[in-house]
Amino acid sequence: MRLAGKSAVITGGSGNIGMATAARFLAEGARVLIVDRDAPRVEAALAELKSNSAHGLAADVTSAEDTVRYAAEAQKLFGRVDIFFNNAGIAGAVAPTVDYRDEDFDAVMAVNVRGVFLGLKHMLPAMKDGGSIVCTSSVAGLRGSAGMPAYVASKHAVVGLMRVAAIEAAPRKIRVNTVHPGPVQGDMMRGLEGGVAPANPEAAHEMFVQRMRLGRYIETKEIADLVTFLASDESRMITGATMVIDAGMAGG
Ligand SMILES: NC(=O)c1ccc[n+]([C@@H]2O[C@H](COP(=O)([O-])OP(=O)(O)OC[C@H]3O[C@@H](n4cnc5c(N)ncnc54)[C@H](O)[C@@H]3O)[C@@H](O)[C@H]2O)c1
Repeated sequence: MRLAGKSAVITGGSGNIGMATAARFLAEGARVLIVDRDAPRVEAALAELKSNSAHGLAADVTSAEDTVRYAAEAQKLFGRVDIFFNNAGIAGAVAPTVDYRDEDFDAVMAVNVRGVFLGLKHMLPAMKDGGSIVCTSSVAGLRGSAGMPAYVASKHAVVGLMRVAAIEAAPRKIRVNTVHPGPVQGDMMRGLEGGVAPANPEAAHEMFVQRMRLGRYIETKEIADLVTFLASDESRMITGATMVIDAGMAGG
């Protein structure tokens, strides 16, 4: 087991990618604290994971108070933490920049940038030396995408936060990296497809697939594979890196 004896905190832990990663971490021998804003979904996730090594906490990552609370809960459960998957995020509205509502911009930045910043700020002191932090960016953190000014800006910002934290945490041998998924099967992409082409979401799905050289959406377990590698000691010399998992979308 690649994460035997390790402890992990996962924000957005009852979501699509968070849940798949929690299941994988548990299978690899880790103890896991799932953090999500949605208390009933945290309960449902724990019921599905069916593991004594899985714990849950409802917290809003945009709140400093809640972030301090989940970092404290993690230390109460585990002592110092080995792995932090800083993953909660929202896609937000789809509209061209000139029509994008200010409040929609602020909502996306609050979760995707402030949430990731607060997570780094309050979890770094809670981490074990030699630990690993993985922040979820996106292909949208490396290139533009029409109709998503807030999401694209926020996911580029995650790279900046990661790069600073990677430098600052290196003396403690804590590694900090970003993952950059392309379209993943699940609710977030279904919502986006509906936003891009409200009358014909299936056409939007096809448009995304056509840009993916490997010809299909990514499965959550395939994201979990990459996050598990970054969380494990196998990636011990990787820090400050932007790890793309997009079926050839950005590079193709
Ligand atoms: N799904 C994709 O195609 C895709 C592609 C690239 C990047 N991503 C990124 O992956 C990450 C996970 O997304 P997902 O696909 O699992 O989507 P998801 O919507 O299934 O999961 C996101 C989770 O974050 C939680 N969350 C949202 N706001 C929160 C807040 N304020 N406080 C605490 N929790 C909050 C949600 O409740 C949800 O459980 C996000 O950062 C997303 O931007 C997703």
